[in-house]
Amino acid sequence: MLPANNLAFILSPVVTFELIGGVIALVSIAAIASWSYNVFFHPLSNYPGPRLAAATRLWYAWHCAKGSLPFAIHELHLRYGDVVRVAPDELSYIHPDGWNEIYGHRPGQSEIPKDPSFYSSALSSPEGIFRAPRDRHGYIRRQMSHGFSEKSMREQEDTIRHYADLMISYLSTQANGPKENVVDFTRWFIPKSFQRRKIEQQALSREKANYRKTIHDGRNDLVANLLKPDSGVTDLEYQSTVQTLIVAGSETTASLLCGVTFHLLNNPEKLEKAVKEVRSEFDSADKISFVSVNKLHYLLACLNEALRVYPPVADGFPRRTGSNVEVINGQPVPPNVRNQMTGTFIQCPESN
Ligand code: HEM
Repeated sequence: MLPANNLAFILSPVVTFELIGGVIALVSIAAIASWSYNVFFHPLSNYPGPRLAAATRLWYAWHCAKGSLPFAIHELHLRYGDVVRVAPDELSYIHPDGWNEIYGHRPGQSEIPKDPSFYSSALSSPEGIFRAPRDRHGYIRRQMSHGFSEKSMREQEDTIRHYADLMISYLSTQANGPKENVVDFTRWFIPKSFQRRKIEQQALSREKANYRKTIHDGRNDLVANLLKPDSGVTDLEYQSTVQTLIVAGSETTASLLCGVTFHLLNNPEKLEKAVKEVRSEFDSADKISFVSVNKLHYLLACLNEALRVYPPVADGFPRRTGSNVEVINGQPVPPNVRNQMTGTFIQCPESN
């Protein structure tokens, strides 16, 4: 134990001030050294981009917090070209080859792994399809592929049609209601449950996953195969995959529907063309089916265009290079670097 007079000395205002000053000076020197290293000596220092973003992740974090990151990166691509350094250890690409080079299968080589720092914050536990280790991911994916087959989709048509009809009837009621035909589409398309907090969303997914297990009517839906006793999929993998399906399948589709509606309403002549196509192809709603809807070429083009100009996933899904140097966009990318194509850029260069 320190004698009382020593303790008094250490706690005296002058010494405390000097101590704090010393710590601040040391931290500042360390920060300046790290920023200088990142800008001038880091293996990515030859890549173009703003100095601030190369020096520290603060630039990235600031735009992330403001919700302006995809737009800020978009601006950087307009200025610097196909590849931009957006953080000390992160590159963003817009060249279409990036889709295959960053995300694609590579014969004789393993894929560039998903960036764990991004995926660990995803709305699902590590066992489900979104975050499962490579071998389990492939297995779960194969088990799920039956659910996404055309045959299985056709078998689910009645259920999907039921919910589509329900939505249209609610929308009609609302549109003819007292609020002067104003409908908040984001609230209609995005279920309230997803506006709740993460923990509630997880509980809701668990509830739905468990409820699905109690249904034995032979339905061939997206998870039917996972629930077969010989599926080889564990209960944790099933629960977490259901969670992914609920988020991945609804927020994305809902955002796209909001986007296409927004753009059609802002372009009345295009809306008129789409309406005309639907009305001339179908004289009643019950004639609309998975097969017949494919005849609506103009409407499908509108959806594709909405994916381009209003991407539901506005920022990318990052991959992180492992221990090898990779070649992306014709340039070497050192180990442990985060790479991604960012959704909003798809609308940027004409080549995309
Ligand atoms: C406009 C609609 C959609 C968009 C834009 C979209 C976008 C994406 C993207 C970009 C990924 C890749 C994520 C990554 O690489 O980490 C992904 C994965 C996935 N999506 Fe979608 N999605 C849509 C609709 C759906 C629907 C309707 C479902 C299911 C009902 C679904 C289920 C999944 C699943 C399970 C994965 C993970 C696949 C895997 O890891 O192998 N998505 N989606």
